[in-house]
Amino acid sequence: MPMKRVGILTGGGDCPGLNAVIRAVVRKGINAYDHDFMGFRYGWAGVLSGDAIPLTHASTRGILHRGGTILGTSRTNVFKEEDGLNRVRRNLEQLDIEALIPIGGEDTLGVARRLHEEGIKVVGVPKTIDNDLAGTDFTFGFQTAVQIATDAIDRLHTTAESHNRVIVVEVMGRHAGWIAVHSGMAGGADAILVPERPFDLDEVCKHLRDRHARGRTFSIVVASEGAHPREGTLSTKAADVDEFGHERLGGIAAWLEREIEQRTGYETRQVVLGHVQRGGTPTAYDRVLATRYGVEAVDALTRGETGVMVALRGTDVLTVPLSDALAQPKLLDPALYETAAVFFG
Ligand code: F6P
Repeated sequence: MPMKRVGILTGGGDCPGLNAVIRAVVRKGINAYDHDFMGFRYGWAGVLSGDAIPLTHASTRGILHRGGTILGTSRTNVFKEEDGLNRVRRNLEQLDIEALIPIGGEDTLGVARRLHEEGIKVVGVPKTIDNDLAGTDFTFGFQTAVQIATDAIDRLHTTAESHNRVIVVEVMGRHAGWIAVHSGMAGGADAILVPERPFDLDEVCKHLRDRHARGRTFSIVVASEGAHPREGTLSTKAADVDEFGHERLGGIAAWLEREIEQRTGYETRQVVLGHVQRGGTPTAYDRVLATRYGVEAVDALTRGETGVMVALRGTDVLTVPLSDALAQPKLLDPALYETAAVFFG
């Protein structure tokens, strides 16, 4: 039984591949099922205010390779806003929308799960460059972020070598070290610092000294923004928090730059990659994954599924309950870290 109308939204930090999902949902939904689509602007903020635009073949053409999101995004929490649930219900009713496809990470999908519990039909699509969402092997956007970070590390190698410097590269990832380990391994980092393994700065400096003793005159240290020292010597500044209670991370590279230079005497520089990792065109892998997710999301919704998220398991795209994805974050695989550590120093 075809649905009258489906709402799509993108929430949380943007990430390469969002437009590819939107395009896939709309293309498959119109061609195969004759649904029609509204895109809410700026994530849950658009659902709360009823700010939506029609999504058609024409409006989703030519966006497969474009980074960001044509719908805009925000970190809005429906359940933190006054009368949030009722406003959502009212707007869906007024716009004649029967079901939602929210594309986002744990926060956006957390809201989706609560709406599902309130009887609203939802099929989520997992997105985050951090790759820290449980229930799926990979989120789209992650591979692009890793490629961007790897390209940067390659470039930093040549300048570090020319100046006999240590360069500390800070990458994103929140409380998971996936971006750091993947880009650090691909870029041949001499040390990789991740949130899951509080580091001992003396050990890091020993790796660097050993390397120099073997005749290498430069080093690359990749530090995840959530990495912290074992001995708890880093005094963290009071950080802003968003509507979901997440702190703004960052600053570890500046601290390491100072400490490494003081302890080793090697000239050290920090580079914070920041939002560069989220910008620009998605890699081919992420375009394909995002497209597969979009097609499966609209298929699942049409089959009558709700309260689920599309996911990659091995090579298959399927659906899993949203509760599987949201139970706890997916942290770094210890075995992967051990493999990366073979190349430290
Ligand atoms: O979750 C994606 C992410 O890019 C994290 O890696 C990072 O900590 C955070 O978002 C940055 O958020 P904002 O775009 O709000 O600065």
